[in-house]
Amino acid sequence: MIDLERVRADTPGVEHVVHLNNAGSALPPRQVVDAVVEHLQREAEIGGYEAAAERKDRWEHTYDALALLLGADRDEIAVVENATRAWDMAFYAFAFQPGDRILTGRAEYASNWIALKHVTDRTGASIEVVPDDESGQIDVAALERLLDERVKLVSLVHVPTQSGLVNPAAAVGRVTRAAGVPLLLDACQSIGQLPVDVNEIGCDILSGTGRKFLRGPRGTGFLYVRRELIERLDPPLLDMHAAEWQPDGSYRIRADARRFENWETYYAGKVGLGVAVDYALAIGIEDGWERIQALASRLRAELAELPGVTVLDRGAVLGATVTFTVADLPAAEVQRRLAAERINVSVMDAASARLDFDPRGLEEAVRSSVHYYNSDEEIDVLVDAVRGARTD
Ligand SMILES: Cc1ncc(COP(=O)(O)O)c(C=O)c1O
Repeated sequence: MIDLERVRADTPGVEHVVHLNNAGSALPPRQVVDAVVEHLQREAEIGGYEAAAERKDRWEHTYDALALLLGADRDEIAVVENATRAWDMAFYAFAFQPGDRILTGRAEYASNWIALKHVTDRTGASIEVVPDDESGQIDVAALERLLDERVKLVSLVHVPTQSGLVNPAAAVGRVTRAAGVPLLLDACQSIGQLPVDVNEIGCDILSGTGRKFLRGPRGTGFLYVRRELIERLDPPLLDMHAAEWQPDGSYRIRADARRFENWETYYAGKVGLGVAVDYALAIGIEDGWERIQALASRLRAELAELPGVTVLDRGAVLGATVTFTVADLPAAEVQRRLAAERINVSVMDAASARLDFDPRGLEEAVRSSVHYYNSDEEIDVLVDAVRGARTD
């Protein structure tokens, strides 16, 4: 059980806002803020390089913390500036050939889709979109039927940016593993929200971000690459951190996942990310997930009761994100009216979620997203404000 009083006492932001934009960027606990500020302060006092050397154990700990969180080894982890760059560094490392096939699902994220299209346009490989099943999640049987020796990668978004869906990642992992096809899992919205173990899922590559459900600092992200795959992936960018210049003019690429990192990095953020992971593990991911599901399902049910409000989430398992439209009110106007009452939500437009929104004729939606530190009263406040927005 989450100790709500304690987690709210740890979260200074709850004094100021009703924060229901956790799928955007969650409110960090003070432990994370303190760690980042303290590191920045130390850089100002003794110098950036000197602070990094003095506190090496703190930023090195981040790799251990992420490895523990994911069920991975520390040398399978790279820490980078965001989830998109993490995903790109792995994806662009594949050498696709004409005729190769890449499978993706309807939950695909806009930036991933753009990269998929960029690479397939250049290489002559193709993208195929696996349909959803009747519940709205990826159809695992259809995916299995599409797998053959020409499929070189399956890209799966675990939890999409635009809805509460939780895709059946472990079921997908079972079929990709059986077929020997690498599974690239975008876990940006799931990490910190629900239990994610790379071995239970059977994914080979995973990308994540600091600022969302992990409650870490902005400008932090990470990549997991399974040991056996690391040295088979040629990073699209190399520098003197990812590789070493040799006397004969050649270079040698690192053997661990840090080959996907680059030299200059946000040390304060890296320290803060480790503290965020420690905090999440101390709170308990399972307990957090239980509370998130309870809060979100109540919110979904109560919004669905309001006249003119349509809740859009589909899927057999639903998580933190509750997406909806309000009749006759543009999403940005709903957001503006809620913001006037210090309630934070965000707006999703079709360009963020074409494979999901376009076939359903959706142009935009309001996205609210709970975290375990939200209170039941905050859910009531949002529901009342949406009710009020219609009659304003
Ligand atoms: C599903 C999904 N993937 C990837 C990203 C990108 O994460 P970042 O902004 O850290 O690059 C997001 C961000 O919203 C997301 O929702």
